Amino acid sequence: MIKRYKLFNTEEQLRATIPRGGKKMVRIGEKRVCIFHLDSGFKVFDNLCPHNGHSLLEGNVNYLGEVVCALHGYRFDLNHGRESESKCADLQLHKIEITDEGVFLGLIS
Ligand code: FES
Repeated sequence: MIKRYKLFNTEEQLRATIPRGGKKMVRIGEKRVCIFHLDSGFKVFDNLCPHNGHSLLEGNVNYLGEVVCALHGYRFDLNHGRESESKCADLQLHKIEITDEGVFLGLIS
């Protein structure tokens, strides 16, 4: 199930808030998600690492496009969420949609 939330009124606001190379955590109710602005675009995913719940906002993205958790180094592919060595559950990815009406987060649960 996908719930849609408006994050910004314009794409310019999004890019000003999270410039290329930047990252930000967004809270939607009890849920926290990370938005990373990579060269390949915006990637949105759960903040909590599926391994042991560390904040992935503290992680970095490597040259393979994987977010690397800062606590134990598990790596999650930001195209599908799979951990590189299948050592734990997949990372839940979400969608960002940029339209003329604004920037929306598609929260997948
Ligand atoms: S909590 Fe993220 S790798 Fe262990």
